[in-house]
Amino acid sequence: MELFEAMLTRSSKRDFEDKPVPKETIDKILSASLRAPSWANSQPWEIAVSTGKTSEFIKKSIYKLASEDNPGNPDFPFPVSWPDKQNANMFETGKLIYESMDISRNDAAKRKDIALYNYDFFGSQTAIFIYMDEKLGIWSALDSGMLIQNILLGAHAAGLGACPQAYIVRYPDILREAFKLPESKKFLLGISIGFYKKDSAANNIHTSRVELKDAVKYYD
Ligand SMILES: Cc1cc2nc3c(=O)[nH]c(=O)nc-3n(C[C@H](O)[C@H](O)[C@H](O)COP(=O)(O)O)c2cc1C
Repeated sequence: MELFEAMLTRSSKRDFEDKPVPKETIDKILSASLRAPSWANSQPWEIAVSTGKTSEFIKKSIYKLASEDNPGNPDFPFPVSWPDKQNANMFETGKLIYESMDISRNDAAKRKDIALYNYDFFGSQTAIFIYMDEKLGIWSALDSGMLIQNILLGAHAAGLGACPQAYIVRYPDILREAFKLPESKKFLLGISIGFYKKDSAANNIHTSRVELKDAVKYYD
C-alpha cells in the first residue's frame, strides 16, 4: 500500500475476530515500526506483545475492574477536562461513533457495553503494549507516539485492523504482573490488533478532521 493512501485510509477498528495475529506478521510490523525517529536515536520505548494465556489473564482482570466501575490508576493520568476546542472535536466524534453504531445517546446500557468491549481487546487475542522507564519524560513519550503511529499504519498496510487504546492501560498493575515488570516501568498505551470484521458498524466509522485551512497557518 502506498504511504499516502495508508495515511488517508487508516481508521481505528473496534471489532475483531477471536484469533491471534501470527508472530511473523507482528514481527514484520514491529521491525519496520522500530525505524521510528527518536531523540538522538535514544529509542526509549519498550514493547510487550500479549497473546494466548497472557491476553486471557489481562482481559479477564481488566474487564472485571472496568465492569465494577473501578477508575484505575493509569501511570500517566487521564485528562479530567479539556479546552473548549478539543471538547467540541471530541463531542462531534463521540456523536458520530454512536450514530454510526446506531446507539442513542441516552442508551446508557449499550454505551457501557461498547466501553467495556475495550477491555476485551475488542474481541482480538492480540494486543501490543508500549511502556517506558520512569526516568524518561515527555520527549520520550513523543518518540513513542511516532512508534505507535508506525504500528497503526503498518497494521493497516498488512491488511489488519488496530485501535490505539488508553483504556487498556488504565490498570497498569495488572500489566506489570502479566509481563513480570517492576514498578519503574510505566505504560503509555495499548494497541488492540487483529483481523477485523469488515462489515461491522464499529469498523466503518469515518471520523472527520478540522479542515486544512483551519488547522494550518503559513507564514511567508
Ligand atoms: C492516545 C490515544 C488514546 C486512545 N484511546 C482510545 C480508547 O481507549 N478506546 C478507543 O476506542 N479509542 C481510543 N483511541 C482512538 C481514537 O478515538 C481515534 O483515534 C479517534 O477517534 C480518531 O479516529 P480514527 O483513529 O479512526 O482516525 C485513542 C487514540 C489515541 C491516539
